[in-house]
Amino acid sequence: MNTNSTPRLFAPFTSRGLTLKNRVMVSPMCQYRSEAGGPSDWHLVHLGQFAIGGAALVFHEETSTSPEGRKSYHCAGLYSDEHVGAYRRINDFIHAQGAACGIQLGHAGRKGSTAGAMTGFRPLNAADESRGEAPWQTMSASALPNDDSSPPPRPMSKSDIANCIDEWVLATRRSAQADFDLLEIHGAHGYLIHQFLSPVSNQRKDEYGGSLENRMRFALELTDAVRREWPDDRPLSFRVSCVDGGGGIWDINDTIELCKRLKTVGVDIIDCSSGGMRGETGMSLVPRVPGYHLPYSEAVKAAVDIPVIAVGLITEASQAEQILARGQGDIIAMARELMAQPGWPLQAARELGLDDPWQVQPPDYAHRLRRRDEVARFTLEDSANADDPVLKRLVSGSDRAAHE
Ligand SMILES: Cc1cc2nc3c(=O)[nH]c(=O)nc-3n(C[C@H](O)[C@H](O)[C@H](O)COP(=O)(O)O)c2cc1C
Repeated sequence: MNTNSTPRLFAPFTSRGLTLKNRVMVSPMCQYRSEAGGPSDWHLVHLGQFAIGGAALVFHEETSTSPEGRKSYHCAGLYSDEHVGAYRRINDFIHAQGAACGIQLGHAGRKGSTAGAMTGFRPLNAADESRGEAPWQTMSASALPNDDSSPPPRPMSKSDIANCIDEWVLATRRSAQADFDLLEIHGAHGYLIHQFLSPVSNQRKDEYGGSLENRMRFALELTDAVRREWPDDRPLSFRVSCVDGGGGIWDINDTIELCKRLKTVGVDIIDCSSGGMRGETGMSLVPRVPGYHLPYSEAVKAAVDIPVIAVGLITEASQAEQILARGQGDIIAMARELMAQPGWPLQAARELGLDDPWQVQPPDYAHRLRRRDEVARFTLEDSANADDPVLKRLVSGSDRAAHE
Protein backbone atom coordinates (compact mmCIF):
# COMPACT_ATOMS: atom_id res chain seq x y z
CA MET A 1 0.00 0.00 0.00
CA ASN A 2 1.36 3.38 -0.99
CA THR A 3 -0.86 6.23 0.11
CA ASN A 4 1.65 9.08 -0.23
CA SER A 5 2.37 8.90 -3.92
CA THR A 6 0.87 7.40 -7.04
CA PRO A 7 1.56 3.67 -7.24
CA ARG A 8 4.04 2.90 -10.00
CA LEU A 9 1.43 0.82 -11.82
CA PHE A 10 -0.69 3.95 -12.24
CA ALA A 11 2.06 6.36 -13.21
CA PRO A 12 2.02 7.39 -16.89
CA PHE A 13 4.53 6.01 -19.37
CA THR A 14 5.76 8.04 -22.32
CA SER A 15 7.51 6.88 -25.48
CA ARG A 16 7.91 9.28 -28.42
CA GLY A 17 4.54 11.05 -28.83
CA LEU A 18 2.52 8.47 -26.89
CA THR A 19 1.67 8.72 -23.20
CA LEU A 20 -0.06 5.76 -21.59
CA LYS A 21 -2.25 6.62 -18.61
CA ASN A 22 -0.92 3.66 -16.60
CA ARG A 23 1.34 0.63 -17.06
CA VAL A 24 -1.28 -2.08 -17.66
CA MET A 25 -1.11 -3.57 -21.17
CA VAL A 26 -3.37 -6.19 -22.68
CA SER A 27 -0.94 -8.68 -24.18
CA PRO A 28 -1.68 -9.81 -27.76
CA MET A 29 -4.13 -12.73 -27.82
CA CYS A 30 -5.02 -14.57 -31.04
CA GLN A 31 -8.76 -15.17 -31.18
CA TYR A 32 -9.22 -17.23 -34.39
CA ARG A 33 -12.37 -15.18 -35.00
CA SER A 34 -11.31 -13.04 -37.96
CA GLU A 35 -13.28 -13.06 -41.19
CA ALA A 36 -11.05 -13.11 -44.30
CA GLY A 37 -8.37 -11.49 -42.15
CA GLY A 38 -10.54 -8.62 -40.92
CA PRO A 39 -11.75 -8.19 -37.34
CA SER A 40 -15.34 -9.07 -36.40
CA ASP A 41 -17.76 -7.87 -33.73
CA TRP A 42 -16.07 -10.40 -31.45
CA HIS A 43 -12.95 -8.23 -31.52
CA LEU A 44 -14.87 -5.05 -30.75
CA VAL A 45 -16.41 -6.62 -27.64
CA HIS A 46 -13.34 -8.65 -26.62
CA LEU A 47 -10.93 -5.69 -26.90
CA GLY A 48 -13.48 -3.07 -25.88
CA GLN A 49 -13.99 -4.74 -22.49
CA PHE A 50 -10.32 -4.23 -21.62
CA ALA A 51 -10.49 -0.53 -22.51
CA ILE A 52 -13.54 -0.13 -20.27
CA GLY A 53 -11.73 -2.15 -17.60
CA GLY A 54 -8.97 0.47 -17.34
CA ALA A 55 -5.98 -1.00 -19.19
CA ALA A 56 -3.88 1.78 -20.72
CA LEU A 57 -2.70 -0.13 -23.78
CA VAL A 58 -4.94 -2.59 -25.57
CA PHE A 59 -3.08 -4.77 -28.03
CA HIS A 60 -4.88 -6.43 -30.89
CA GLU A 61 -3.72 -9.99 -31.59
CA GLU A 62 -0.88 -11.04 -33.88
CA THR A 63 -1.94 -9.68 -37.26
CA SER A 64 -0.47 -11.10 -40.42
CA THR A 65 1.16 -9.06 -43.14
CA SER A 66 0.08 -11.56 -45.84
CA PRO A 67 -2.62 -14.25 -46.23
CA GLU A 68 0.08 -16.98 -46.20
CA GLY A 69 1.57 -15.54 -43.01
CA ARG A 70 -1.50 -16.54 -41.02
CA LYS A 71 -1.51 -19.63 -38.82
CA SER A 72 -5.05 -20.48 -39.87
CA TYR A 73 -7.83 -19.15 -42.09
CA HIS A 74 -9.33 -17.52 -38.99
CA CYS A 75 -6.30 -15.47 -38.00
CA ALA A 76 -6.12 -11.70 -38.20
CA GLY A 77 -4.52 -9.87 -41.10
CA LEU A 78 -3.84 -6.37 -42.33
CA TYR A 79 -2.81 -7.37 -45.83
CA SER A 80 -5.56 -5.46 -47.66
CA ASP A 81 -6.66 -1.83 -47.66
CA GLU A 82 -10.17 -3.20 -47.11
CA HIS A 83 -9.22 -4.21 -43.57
CA VAL A 84 -8.37 -0.69 -42.43
CA GLY A 85 -11.88 0.60 -41.68
CA ALA A 86 -12.83 -2.35 -39.47
CA TYR A 87 -9.71 -1.90 -37.33
CA ARG A 88 -10.30 1.84 -37.12
CA ARG A 89 -13.83 1.27 -35.82
CA ILE A 90 -12.45 -0.80 -32.92
CA ASN A 91 -9.65 1.68 -32.26
CA ASP A 92 -12.12 4.58 -32.16
CA PHE A 93 -13.97 2.78 -29.39
CA ILE A 94 -10.77 2.01 -27.44
CA HIS A 95 -9.58 5.62 -27.80
CA ALA A 96 -12.94 6.91 -26.57
CA GLN A 97 -12.33 5.05 -23.28
CA GLY A 98 -8.95 6.79 -22.84
CA ALA A 99 -6.80 3.80 -23.81
CA ALA A 100 -4.20 3.43 -26.54
CA CYS A 101 -4.20 0.78 -29.27
CA GLY A 102 -1.36 -1.55 -30.15
CA ILE A 103 -0.97 -3.73 -33.22
CA GLN A 104 1.34 -6.72 -33.33
CA LEU A 105 2.33 -7.45 -36.91
CA GLY A 106 3.53 -10.96 -37.57
CA HIS A 107 4.17 -13.71 -40.09
CA ALA A 108 3.90 -17.36 -39.07
CA GLY A 109 6.35 -18.69 -41.68
CA ARG A 110 6.58 -22.50 -41.31
CA LYS A 111 4.00 -22.37 -38.51
CA GLY A 112 1.25 -21.43 -40.99
CA SER A 113 -1.39 -23.61 -42.67
CA THR A 114 -2.89 -25.08 -39.49
CA ALA A 115 -6.37 -25.58 -38.10
CA GLY A 116 -5.66 -23.24 -35.17
CA ALA A 117 -5.05 -23.36 -31.42
CA MET A 118 -8.09 -25.43 -30.43
CA THR A 119 -6.73 -28.33 -32.51
CA GLY A 120 -3.20 -27.99 -31.13
CA PHE A 121 -2.20 -26.36 -34.43
CA ARG A 122 -2.84 -29.49 -36.46
CA PRO A 123 -1.64 -29.00 -40.06
CA LEU A 124 -4.49 -28.52 -42.54
CA ASN A 125 -5.30 -31.67 -44.56
CA ALA A 126 -7.56 -33.00 -47.35
CA ALA A 127 -10.62 -33.04 -45.10
CA ASP A 128 -10.10 -29.35 -44.38
CA GLU A 129 -9.69 -28.75 -48.12
CA SER A 130 -13.06 -30.36 -48.85
CA ARG A 131 -14.72 -27.76 -46.63
CA GLY A 132 -12.89 -24.88 -48.28
CA GLU A 133 -9.74 -24.62 -46.17
CA ALA A 134 -7.00 -25.98 -48.40
CA PRO A 135 -3.49 -26.32 -46.96
CA TRP A 136 -0.99 -23.85 -48.38
CA GLN A 137 2.74 -24.00 -48.97
CA THR A 138 4.50 -22.24 -46.11
CA MET A 139 7.90 -20.56 -46.34
CA SER A 140 10.76 -20.14 -43.89
CA ALA A 141 14.49 -19.53 -43.58
CA SER A 142 15.25 -23.16 -44.46
CA ALA A 143 13.28 -26.21 -45.61
CA LEU A 144 13.01 -27.57 -42.06
CA PRO A 145 9.51 -28.48 -40.84
CA ASN A 146 8.22 -27.15 -37.53
CA ASP A 147 7.72 -30.69 -36.21
CA ASP A 148 7.29 -34.27 -37.41
CA SER A 149 3.65 -33.74 -38.39
CA SER A 150 4.20 -30.56 -40.43
CA PRO A 151 5.08 -30.46 -44.14
CA PRO A 152 8.42 -28.79 -44.92
CA PRO A 153 8.36 -25.09 -45.76
CA ARG A 154 9.83 -23.60 -48.93
CA PRO A 155 13.18 -21.91 -48.19
CA MET A 156 12.86 -18.21 -48.95
CA SER A 157 14.72 -16.79 -51.93
CA LYS A 158 16.20 -13.29 -51.85
CA SER A 159 13.16 -12.01 -53.72
CA ASP A 160 10.84 -13.74 -51.20
CA ILE A 161 12.68 -11.84 -48.48
CA ALA A 162 12.34 -8.54 -50.32
CA ASN A 163 8.63 -9.16 -51.03
CA CYS A 164 8.00 -10.12 -47.44
CA ILE A 165 9.58 -6.89 -46.17
CA ASP A 166 7.51 -4.90 -48.69
CA GLU A 167 4.36 -6.54 -47.29
CA TRP A 168 5.39 -5.54 -43.76
CA VAL A 169 5.84 -1.96 -44.93
CA LEU A 170 2.37 -1.92 -46.49
CA ALA A 171 0.82 -3.39 -43.33
CA THR A 172 2.67 -0.74 -41.31
CA ARG A 173 1.17 1.99 -43.51
CA ARG A 174 -2.30 0.51 -42.98
CA SER A 175 -1.67 0.32 -39.22
CA ALA A 176 -1.06 4.07 -39.17
CA GLN A 177 -4.20 4.64 -41.28
CA ALA A 178 -6.19 2.53 -38.80
CA ASP A 179 -5.04 4.81 -35.95
CA PHE A 180 -2.90 2.38 -34.03
CA ASP A 181 -0.70 4.20 -31.52
CA LEU A 182 2.04 1.63 -31.11
CA LEU A 183 3.28 -1.06 -33.48
CA GLU A 184 4.98 -4.23 -32.33
CA ILE A 185 6.99 -6.55 -34.55
CA HIS A 186 6.38 -10.17 -33.54
CA GLY A 187 9.88 -11.61 -33.54
CA ALA A 188 9.13 -14.36 -31.01
CA HIS A 189 7.39 -17.70 -30.46
CA GLY A 190 8.98 -19.57 -33.36
CA TYR A 191 7.35 -17.48 -36.10
CA LEU A 192 9.08 -16.29 -39.26
CA ILE A 193 11.48 -13.73 -37.76
CA HIS A 194 12.43 -16.13 -34.98
CA GLN A 195 12.89 -18.84 -37.67
CA PHE A 196 15.66 -16.68 -39.13
CA LEU A 197 17.20 -15.86 -35.74
CA SER A 198 17.56 -19.37 -34.35
CA PRO A 199 20.07 -21.87 -35.74
CA VAL A 200 17.48 -24.57 -34.96
CA SER A 201 15.42 -23.41 -37.95
CA ASN A 202 17.97 -21.42 -39.96
CA GLN A 203 20.60 -23.45 -41.78
CA ARG A 204 21.04 -21.08 -44.70
CA LYS A 205 24.41 -20.77 -46.38
CA ASP A 206 23.92 -17.20 -47.65
CA GLU A 207 24.19 -13.85 -45.83
CA TYR A 208 20.93 -14.57 -43.94
CA GLY A 209 22.30 -17.69 -42.22
CA GLY A 210 25.31 -18.95 -40.30
CA SER A 211 26.79 -16.31 -37.99
CA LEU A 212 24.70 -14.39 -35.47
CA GLU A 213 25.23 -11.30 -37.60
CA ASN A 214 23.77 -13.08 -40.62
CA ARG A 215 20.84 -14.64 -38.75
CA MET A 216 19.88 -11.20 -37.38
CA ARG A 217 19.97 -9.63 -40.84
CA PHE A 218 16.33 -10.38 -41.79
CA ALA A 219 15.00 -9.06 -38.45
CA LEU A 220 17.09 -5.89 -38.69
CA GLU A 221 16.32 -5.15 -42.36
CA LEU A 222 12.63 -5.69 -41.75
CA THR A 223 12.61 -3.55 -38.59
CA ASP A 224 14.51 -0.78 -40.32
CA ALA A 225 11.96 -0.76 -43.16
CA VAL A 226 9.02 -0.76 -40.75
CA ARG A 227 10.53 2.06 -38.68
CA ARG A 228 10.99 4.22 -41.80
CA GLU A 229 7.30 3.78 -42.65
CA TRP A 230 5.88 4.05 -39.10
CA PRO A 231 5.26 7.69 -38.07
CA ASP A 232 8.12 9.22 -36.09
CA ASP A 233 5.93 10.19 -33.18
CA ARG A 234 4.62 6.65 -32.64
CA PRO A 235 6.66 4.08 -30.68
CA LEU A 236 7.83 0.75 -32.07
CA SER A 237 8.24 -2.37 -29.94
CA PHE A 238 9.69 -5.77 -30.75
CA ARG A 239 8.65 -9.03 -29.09
CA VAL A 240 11.53 -11.43 -28.76
CA SER A 241 11.81 -14.96 -27.46
CA CYS A 242 14.66 -14.29 -25.04
CA VAL A 243 15.49 -18.00 -25.22
CA ASP A 244 14.32 -20.59 -27.77
CA GLY A 245 12.88 -22.99 -25.22
CA GLY A 246 13.10 -26.77 -24.91
CA GLY A 247 16.02 -28.11 -26.95
CA GLY A 248 16.80 -24.70 -28.44
CA ILE A 249 20.00 -22.77 -29.13
CA TRP A 250 19.14 -19.03 -29.19
CA ASP A 251 19.83 -17.66 -25.68
CA ILE A 252 19.71 -14.47 -23.63
CA ASN A 253 23.16 -13.34 -24.82
CA ASP A 254 21.96 -13.52 -28.43
CA THR A 255 18.84 -11.60 -27.37
CA ILE A 256 20.87 -8.83 -25.78
CA GLU A 257 23.00 -8.50 -28.91
CA LEU A 258 19.86 -8.36 -31.07
CA CYS A 259 18.19 -5.77 -28.85
CA LYS A 260 21.25 -3.50 -28.94
CA ARG A 261 21.02 -3.57 -32.73
CA LEU A 262 17.24 -3.11 -32.73
CA LYS A 263 17.69 0.02 -30.65
CA THR A 264 19.99 1.49 -33.28
CA VAL A 265 17.33 1.05 -35.98
CA GLY A 266 14.68 2.83 -33.90
CA VAL A 267 13.01 0.22 -31.69
CA ASP A 268 11.79 1.93 -28.52
CA ILE A 269 10.56 -0.95 -26.36
CA ILE A 270 11.43 -4.65 -26.05
CA ASP A 271 8.66 -7.10 -25.18
CA CYS A 272 10.39 -10.00 -23.40
CA SER A 273 8.81 -13.40 -24.00
CA SER A 274 10.29 -16.85 -24.68
CA GLY A 275 9.79 -20.19 -26.41
CA GLY A 276 8.11 -21.43 -29.55
CA MET A 277 11.23 -23.06 -30.98
CA ARG A 278 11.96 -26.70 -30.22
CA GLY A 279 15.21 -28.48 -30.92
CA GLU A 280 17.35 -31.26 -29.63
CA THR A 281 19.89 -29.59 -27.36
CA GLY A 282 19.90 -29.70 -23.57
CA MET A 283 18.26 -26.25 -23.27
CA SER A 284 15.28 -26.59 -20.95
CA LEU A 285 11.83 -25.08 -21.29
CA VAL A 286 11.39 -21.99 -19.12
CA PRO A 287 9.37 -23.23 -16.11
CA ARG A 288 5.94 -21.58 -16.08
CA VAL A 289 6.09 -20.03 -12.60
CA PRO A 290 4.71 -16.56 -11.70
CA GLY A 291 6.75 -13.89 -13.49
CA TYR A 292 8.65 -16.51 -15.50
CA HIS A 293 10.21 -14.03 -17.94
CA LEU A 294 11.40 -11.49 -15.37
CA PRO A 295 15.06 -12.56 -15.29
CA TYR A 296 15.12 -11.94 -19.06
CA SER A 297 13.36 -8.56 -19.07
CA GLU A 298 15.60 -7.42 -16.22
CA ALA A 299 18.73 -8.52 -18.12
CA VAL A 300 17.64 -6.82 -21.37
CA LYS A 301 16.74 -3.56 -19.62
CA ALA A 302 20.05 -3.47 -17.75
CA ALA A 303 22.28 -4.42 -20.72
CA VAL A 304 20.53 -2.46 -23.47
CA ASP A 305 19.18 0.50 -21.48
CA ILE A 306 15.76 0.36 -23.14
CA PRO A 307 12.22 0.19 -21.72
CA VAL A 308 10.93 -3.37 -21.47
CA ILE A 309 7.55 -5.07 -21.29
CA ALA A 310 7.29 -7.70 -18.55
CA VAL A 311 4.93 -10.60 -19.27
CA GLY A 312 4.17 -14.10 -18.04
CA LEU A 313 1.90 -15.09 -15.16
CA ILE A 314 1.65 -11.63 -13.68
CA THR A 315 -1.63 -11.71 -11.79
CA GLU A 316 -1.25 -9.68 -8.56
CA ALA A 317 -1.16 -5.90 -8.10
CA SER A 318 1.66 -6.13 -5.55
CA GLN A 319 3.64 -8.35 -7.95
CA ALA A 320 3.22 -5.79 -10.75
CA GLU A 321 4.26 -2.96 -8.42
CA GLN A 322 7.36 -4.86 -7.36
CA ILE A 323 8.35 -5.60 -10.98
CA LEU A 324 8.26 -1.88 -11.77
CA ALA A 325 10.13 -0.97 -8.56
CA ARG A 326 12.88 -3.53 -9.25
CA GLY A 327 13.43 -2.40 -12.84
CA GLN A 328 12.27 -5.72 -14.28
CA GLY A 329 9.67 -4.01 -16.45
CA ASP A 330 8.35 -0.61 -17.52
CA ILE A 331 5.01 -1.90 -18.79
CA ILE A 332 3.08 -4.84 -17.31
CA ALA A 333 1.53 -7.06 -19.98
CA MET A 334 -1.19 -9.49 -19.00
CA ALA A 335 -3.20 -11.94 -21.08
CA ARG A 336 -5.05 -14.73 -19.23
CA GLU A 337 -5.69 -12.86 -15.99
CA LEU A 338 -7.35 -10.03 -17.93
CA MET A 339 -9.46 -12.59 -19.80
CA ALA A 340 -10.67 -13.76 -16.40
CA GLN A 341 -10.99 -10.25 -14.96
CA PRO A 342 -11.19 -7.40 -17.48
CA GLY A 343 -11.75 -5.02 -14.53
CA TRP A 344 -8.43 -6.04 -12.93
CA PRO A 345 -7.00 -2.48 -13.11
CA LEU A 346 -9.71 -1.20 -10.75
CA GLN A 347 -9.05 -4.01 -8.29
CA ALA A 348 -5.30 -3.27 -8.52
CA ALA A 349 -5.90 0.46 -7.97
CA ARG A 350 -7.87 -0.30 -4.81
CA GLU A 351 -5.24 -2.71 -3.53
CA LEU A 352 -2.37 -0.31 -4.17
CA GLY A 353 -4.17 2.59 -2.48
CA LEU A 354 -4.57 4.86 -5.52
CA ASP A 355 -6.48 8.01 -4.61
CA ASP A 356 -9.93 7.71 -6.17
CA PRO A 357 -9.23 4.26 -7.67
CA TRP A 358 -12.47 4.35 -9.68
CA GLN A 359 -10.93 6.96 -12.01
CA VAL A 360 -9.15 4.14 -13.88
CA GLN A 361 -12.46 3.29 -15.54
CA PRO A 362 -14.63 5.50 -17.79
CA PRO A 363 -16.53 8.27 -15.92
CA ASP A 364 -19.95 6.58 -16.02
CA TYR A 365 -18.60 3.34 -14.53
CA ALA A 366 -16.45 5.32 -12.06
CA HIS A 367 -19.43 7.34 -10.85
CA ARG A 368 -21.59 4.29 -10.15
CA LEU A 369 -18.88 2.19 -8.58
CA ARG A 370 -17.62 5.05 -6.39
CA ARG A 371 -21.17 5.51 -5.04
CA ARG A 372 -21.67 1.77 -4.62
CA ASP A 373 -18.46 1.46 -2.62
CA GLU A 374 -19.38 4.44 -0.44
CA VAL A 375 -22.64 2.75 0.43
CA ALA A 376 -20.94 -0.57 1.03
CA ARG A 377 -19.05 1.04 3.92
CA PHE A 378 -22.20 0.95 5.97
CA THR A 379 -23.55 -1.92 7.96
CA LEU A 380 -26.97 -2.22 9.51
CA GLU A 381 -25.48 -1.07 12.83
CA ASP A 382 -24.43 2.20 11.19
CA SER A 383 -28.06 3.08 10.72
CA ALA A 384 -27.87 4.33 14.32
CA ASN A 385 -25.37 6.97 13.17
CA ALA A 386 -27.77 9.48 11.74
CA ASP A 387 -25.04 12.17 11.53
CA ASP A 388 -23.20 10.59 8.65
CA PRO A 389 -23.99 12.72 5.57
CA VAL A 390 -23.88 9.85 3.09
CA LEU A 391 -26.12 7.73 5.27
CA LYS A 392 -28.50 10.64 5.73
CA ARG A 393 -28.76 11.01 1.98
CA LEU A 394 -29.54 7.32 1.62
CA VAL A 395 -32.03 7.22 4.48
CA SER A 396 -33.83 10.32 3.24
CA GLY A 397 -34.27 8.64 -0.12
CA SER A 398 -32.49 11.48 -1.94
CA ASP A 399 -30.06 8.97 -3.42
CA ARG A 400 -32.00 7.62 -6.34
CA ALA A 401 -29.03 6.34 -8.24
CA ALA A 402 -29.26 2.82 -6.92
CA HIS A 403 -32.90 2.51 -7.94
CA GLU A 404 -32.80 3.50 -11.59
C1 LIG B 1 -5.49 -16.86 -26.01
C2 LIG B 1 -4.06 -16.44 -26.16
C3 LIG B 1 -3.61 -15.98 -27.38
C4 LIG B 1 -2.30 -15.50 -27.53
N1 LIG B 1 -1.92 -14.94 -28.70
C5 LIG B 1 -0.73 -14.30 -28.79
C6 LIG B 1 -0.40 -13.49 -29.90
O1 LIG B 1 -1.23 -13.25 -30.78
N2 LIG B 1 0.84 -12.94 -29.94
C7 LIG B 1 1.74 -13.12 -28.93
O2 LIG B 1 2.86 -12.62 -29.02
N3 LIG B 1 1.42 -13.84 -27.85
C8 LIG B 1 0.22 -14.40 -27.74
N4 LIG B 1 -0.14 -15.03 -26.58
C9 LIG B 1 0.79 -14.98 -25.44
C10 LIG B 1 0.40 -13.81 -24.52
O3 LIG B 1 0.52 -12.56 -25.18
C11 LIG B 1 1.25 -13.79 -23.22
O4 LIG B 1 2.58 -13.52 -23.59
C12 LIG B 1 1.19 -15.12 -22.48
O5 LIG B 1 -0.14 -15.61 -22.41
C13 LIG B 1 1.73 -14.95 -21.05
O6 LIG B 1 0.98 -13.99 -20.34
P1 LIG B 1 -0.15 -14.40 -19.24
O7 LIG B 1 0.53 -15.31 -18.24
O8 LIG B 1 -0.54 -13.08 -18.62
O9 LIG B 1 -1.26 -15.09 -19.94
C14 LIG B 1 -1.42 -15.55 -26.43
C15 LIG B 1 -1.87 -16.06 -25.21
C16 LIG B 1 -3.18 -16.46 -25.05
C17 LIG B 1 -3.64 -16.96 -23.72
